[in-house]
Amino acid sequence: MLSVTDVVKTFNSGDRTIKPVNGVSFSLEQGTFAAILGKSGSGKSTLLSLLGALDKATSGDVVVDDVNISKLPDRKLTAYRRDDIGFVFQSYNLIPNLSAQENVMLPMEFAGRSHSARSARAAELLNQVGLTEEMHSRKANRLSGGMQQRVAIARALANNPKLILADEPTGNLDDETGELIIELLRRLAHEKKTTILVVTHDQALASQTDRKFRLARGKLTEDD
Ligand SMILES: Nc1ncnc2c1ncn2[C@@H]1O[C@H](COP(=O)(O)OP(=O)(O)OP(=O)(O)O)[C@@H](O)[C@H]1O
Ligand SMILES: [Mg+2]
Repeated sequence: MLSVTDVVKTFNSGDRTIKPVNGVSFSLEQGTFAAILGKSGSGKSTLLSLLGALDKATSGDVVVDDVNISKLPDRKLTAYRRDDIGFVFQSYNLIPNLSAQENVMLPMEFAGRSHSARSARAAELLNQVGLTEEMHSRKANRLSGGMQQRVAIARALANNPKLILADEPTGNLDDETGELIIELLRRLAHEKKTTILVVTHDQALASQTDRKFRLARGKLTEDD
């Protein structure tokens, strides 16, 4: 369902050119739970943003369910990001003065769902990531880092995306909450056939995935 061929991303900073992604190719079948590992600065977030169409590759192709997103016009990219992708940002990117529940409702509003449907689904998702009812109405900027991370995960699931891209989704969670999130992601992949690609340093998370890749010097290799 995801097929990446010879993807390159070049950044020019001053007179220097860096290529954190320099000829990456891999593919994932629908329902695969996969992890990308790699040192800080190795280009993991950069690669994820190319797959989520948050940034454009310098060259190469990213094909999701037979659609080459590297060649889509902007209007279609917006629809792709809204309908097909759930993205969990490394820095969460919640709207600070909206409540946890309102943050999760937002992508469903863009997708045109009714207020009552949005509200009910958001509450259900927040419960699934282990946030109790009293946290649902709390403003995002008054939640702890780990709570914000869980709201960001709930928001990524809101529109039932077929591909979830998650940057360090357990990076700020204690072991017990991390386990809850890992189990949630594993079930989504194996029972609902959602394709899930996580970037992680968390061994507990990496050990639960079906496939593990490593990014170093711009190249992606698969672990045995
Ligand atoms: N917009 C940008 N412009 C210029 N350079 C960038 C940009 N985004 C990332 N880089 C550079 O690309 C390289 C890879 O960064 P990236 O954030 O993808 O690494 P990472 O593997 O996600 O690291 P971490 O584990 O610390 O999150 C770094 O050298 C970074 O400075
Ligand atoms: Mg990163």
